[in-house]
Amino acid sequence: MILGCFLASLFFACNSETSNKNEEASCEKKVVTDNTPNDDSELALLMRKLYLDADSIKQLIVNKEGTISDEFITELETVHSAIPTDPDVKTPEFKAFNELLINQAKVLQEDSANRVEGFNQFVNRCIDCHQSFALDQ
Ligand code: HEC
Repeated sequence: MILGCFLASLFFACNSETSNKNEEASCEKKVVTDNTPNDDSELALLMRKLYLDADSIKQLIVNKEGTISDEFITELETVHSAIPTDPDVKTPEFKAFNELLINQAKVLQEDSANRVEGFNQFVNRCIDCHQSFALDQ
C-alpha cells in the first residue's frame, strides 16, 4: 500500500514543528511520484487531491490565514459518488463515515477558536474510514 505516513503527517504536532515539516515533505513526494493515473480509480485520484488540499488548509490554519472552504466541503461530497477501485467499499458504512467527515469539516469551518484541534479531529475522520476498510494509513 502506498498510503504510508500520509494521514498521520497531516496532524498538527504538539511541539516539533520542524520534524513534522520534514515528514510532510517526504509524504508529499510520494503522492507526486506514485503517478500512474491510468490504473487509478476516480476515488483514488479524488483522495489524493483531498490529501493535498487538506495539507494546504493546514498551512492556512498554521499561518492564521483561513480555514476549510465551501469548495473543499463540496469536494468531500463528491466522495459519495466517485467510483472506487474496489466496488465493495460502497456500503452504508462508507456513506456514514463520509457524512461524519463532512460534519467535522463544517464544525471546523465555523469554529474559529479551536482550529488546530478541529483540524486534527477532521484528520481522525479520514483515518476512521480507512481503518474500517482496512486501508493502510
Ligand atoms: C468514507 C471513507 C473514506 C474517507 C472519509 C476518507 N477516505 Fe481516503 N480512501 C478511502 C478509500 C475506499 C480509498 C481507496 C480508493 C480506491 O482505491 O479506489 C482511499 C484512499 C485514499 C488515499 C490513497 C489514494 C491513492 O493514491 O490510491 C489517500 C491519500 C486518501 N484516501 C486520503 C484521504 C484523506 C486526506 C481523507 C480525509 C480528508 C480521506 N482519505 C477520507 C476511503 C475514505
